[in-house]
Amino acid sequence: MNESPVLAIESSCDETAAAVVVGRRVLSNVIASQAEMHEKWGGVVPEAAARAHVEAIVPVVRNAVMSAGLRYSELRAVAVTNRPGLVGALSVGVTAAKAISHTLKIPLIGIHHLEGHLLSILAIEGDIPFPHLALIVSGGHTELVAVQAPGGYNILGETRDDAAGEAFDKGARLLGLGYPGGLAIQNAASSGNPNAYPLPEGLRKSAYEFSFSGLKTAVNRLVDSTPNLNVADAAASLQETIVRSLSRKALEAVEELGYSALSLVGGVAANQSLRDRLQAGCQRLGIQFLTPPLSLCTDNAAMIGLAAVTRLSRGEQDSLDLDVWPNSELPRLLAI
Ligand code: KG4
Ligand code: ZN
Repeated sequence: MNESPVLAIESSCDETAAAVVVGRRVLSNVIASQAEMHEKWGGVVPEAAARAHVEAIVPVVRNAVMSAGLRYSELRAVAVTNRPGLVGALSVGVTAAKAISHTLKIPLIGIHHLEGHLLSILAIEGDIPFPHLALIVSGGHTELVAVQAPGGYNILGETRDDAAGEAFDKGARLLGLGYPGGLAIQNAASSGNPNAYPLPEGLRKSAYEFSFSGLKTAVNRLVDSTPNLNVADAAASLQETIVRSLSRKALEAVEELGYSALSLVGGVAANQSLRDRLQAGCQRLGIQFLTPPLSLCTDNAAMIGLAAVTRLSRGEQDSLDLDVWPNSELPRLLAI
């Protein structure tokens, strides 16, 4: 399976994505984003997302196969995110993957979205040390995960309330910077002073738990009580508070647990300030810092393909009655 082209599909939220991977090489990675459509609502509307996936899925898959320089007949397996996510959105990808599996008579495999994020680092050149500690930061999750090996994960801590991506998105909405908020905050922050407006760092003393809901309340209060708010300074202060909280805890945890590497994955891993802070922290601790290229941080299908290769090479596959699961825990036990 390591040298066979695998087509992967991801449609769990608001990106319709398809990719082709061979082993750890990403041959194509195509993404049709619905962000513009959801922007006017300030968030993802599930029904509209599902309909947009229906329209985009066929051209996106075709584009992924063609830009990999392949014909459909050269694909050896099809992988798809089947959990967790919006049920209507997931169903579109899973239905397409089943049709492709049935028509081409190739194996089908369902992948957990977070396993995709965790294994997105396989796209980096060089050896990936296992076990290592992972910080997953996305729109729906903020978790510290012990990655024993591909397929074996142990959640060591998570957020008590909002995810880090939600903190960026809600903060951006309060500051009038639009949706999705992470990149908008990063851009506005580049000309701001991160120490201008002190904001609370949630659960400062607890190493393995995060909390970001107080931050949203504090930004709300700041906006209401500051007539001439400097938006760049507010964005920089918000980014600094989130980055400080995430990096402090991840570095404390990795040091305490004695792992030789820390990975940073998920949409918020695209944040340059967070990447720089963790890179510097890992260097200080003398451990390896692993993070995928920006194109593999926010939702994409290449990471689903990379995770699928590890499962297919262990002989796993699913049948055509593969289900979708809107809620689902990360696979905990090694299926070797
Ligand atoms: O992993 P992802 O694409 O989707 C989920 O699985 O949730 O993560 C999306 C999140 C959004 O909250 C978005 O605002 C955030 O990632 N994000 C960023 C940046 N780019 C995307 N947050 C901070 N800085 C960025 N540059
Ligand atoms: Zn994601």
